[in-house]
Amino acid sequence: MSMNYKVINTKSFGDEQGRLVSFEKGVNCPFEVKRAFYIYDTKGETSRGCHANRNSEFLLIAINGSCKIKIDDGKSKEIIELTNPYTALYLDKMLWKEMYDFSHNAILLVLASTNYDEHEYIRNYDDYLKEVNN
Ligand code: TYD
Repeated sequence: MSMNYKVINTKSFGDEQGRLVSFEKGVNCPFEVKRAFYIYDTKGETSRGCHANRNSEFLLIAINGSCKIKIDDGKSKEIIELTNPYTALYLDKMLWKEMYDFSHNAILLVLASTNYDEHEYIRNYDDYLKEVNN
């Protein structure tokens, strides 16, 4: 069984003088972006995330540095490492995720399909397992 995530390797435009990457709905982004946020200044052993979202889809892009993302659908787990600005990780709704092993200079850009709503978060893993297995 495959999990509802996808590694999207996209085009980087440019040359030795400089580069540019674009994400666009229907081209290399499967949803309409309503929100963007980024995680930076992450100290050593920190892990972020550790939650699932009932309604949000995400694209994660390490626009600087690198980090790892552990994805869990309640049945199996996968680890993806993002190491460049032209690879995006797509995450569907209802996946448990944890971001960790941030490099000292890491900036993780997150594009989301929803406005922020704390009520769509599941922050307790046992609650997540109950909901996802129903
Ligand atoms: P939080 O979800 O706890 O981060 P993590 O991914 O590490 O679990 O978010 C940290 C804080 O930022 C929290 O106070 C909520 C706020 N926040 C927003 O206001 N808007 C957003 O889009 C996000 C993702 C977080």
